Amino acid sequence: MPSLAKRLESVPASPIRKLVPYAQAAKKSGTKVYHLNIGDPDIKTPEEMIGVLKSWDKNPISYELSQGSTKFLEALTWYYHSLGFTFIETKNIQVTNGGSEAISMALFATCEPGDEVIVFEPFYANYNSYAALNGVKIHAITTTIESGFHLPSKKTIEKAINDKTKAILFCNPNNPTGTVYTKEEIEMLVDIATEHGLFLLSDEVYREYTYDGKTQVSLLSYMPKVPDQAIVLDSMSKRYSLCGARLGALVSLNPNLLAGVLRIAQGRLSSGFIDQAMASELVHVENQYIVNVQKEYELRRDALFRGLQSIPGVTVRKPEGAFYVIVGLPVGDSEAFCQWLLTDFRDQNETIMIAPAGGFYATVGKGKNEVRIAYVLNTKDLKRSIDLLRIALSLYNKTK
Ligand SMILES: Cc1ncc(COP(=O)(O)O)c(C=O)c1O
Repeated sequence: MPSLAKRLESVPASPIRKLVPYAQAAKKSGTKVYHLNIGDPDIKTPEEMIGVLKSWDKNPISYELSQGSTKFLEALTWYYHSLGFTFIETKNIQVTNGGSEAISMALFATCEPGDEVIVFEPFYANYNSYAALNGVKIHAITTTIESGFHLPSKKTIEKAINDKTKAILFCNPNNPTGTVYTKEEIEMLVDIATEHGLFLLSDEVYREYTYDGKTQVSLLSYMPKVPDQAIVLDSMSKRYSLCGARLGALVSLNPNLLAGVLRIAQGRLSSGFIDQAMASELVHVENQYIVNVQKEYELRRDALFRGLQSIPGVTVRKPEGAFYVIVGLPVGDSEAFCQWLLTDFRDQNETIMIAPAGGFYATVGKGKNEVRIAYVLNTKDLKRSIDLLRIALSLYNKTK
């Protein structure tokens, strides 16, 4: 019997999905589970996009061009122009199978096996998977709840740079912390990249979701300044509630990088024909759609934040964007607690599913008393979920 590759073990299970079997068992036994564990929004996809499916008449369902369908590339170009980034042309965009593939392609394109990428922890846990698949080492710099998970000083970041460092990968607005980096923070990263000759990989899949009147500072604003080093990673999943369409984009002004990722894209042939036809309708989606979704998330954020603040022993900072928050809980081991919620705890035959935060850190032992909550439910369900958490915590600390 041949042995499996050792490297297979280097790919971690998703901390967001690994409790799924317990949730399934709970549901099978008739328990209602409120899902706060995964960023799969309940917001409706725009009708303009659904309309494409309803009136579909193309047969057969063929491949598309490897770079992306002409219509979708033009729609994306239109979108970036609408944000003021008029220097973006279709040739600067590679359509990807979700933002996930954009991240993986960017790592493959910028790093040799064994190279290091600086990431600020806690970070989107799947970065671990993309790093493992590409043989890249994540060099984590810890950010803390006390500083609202904002970036450390330039000096601290520079200390982490060594001769293996090739890039800084950051997420803004941030999953899992909800932090929106300031203009000064983005400019600091651009300065560091310039001074140390590093790539900047900016994951902006939550670009539109910022609250309290804040706006996101995109790396696109600095792309002409560092044209060969700046790479923006984008997604349709959250902006248009299109998670299942599996569409994203890699944006760059570096022609060699684009030529290389196109060769990767040719190897996997194309992104979905139907998906791209549907997403191309983004040009017809009223801006009000995004404004309404953003407002809805802000209401949810407020309800969640108020509720969490009222639970004894809970530590939380008001998230500034995206739809996640890292929450400190009065428990010793948040993974055991999250599992217990699904296996043992019930209130009126209901429970919640939340993600233990340990998997969002690279440093072993960090995040042990933290969880990540995704506020992807309507306000009523969110309020009920907070009540469930309150009841569960008081019971758990009595039973343990
Ligand atoms: C920070 C971040 N980046 C990238 C992705 C990947 O999204 P997708 O592959 O659905 O575009 C996600 C999904 O949740 C995310 O949260």
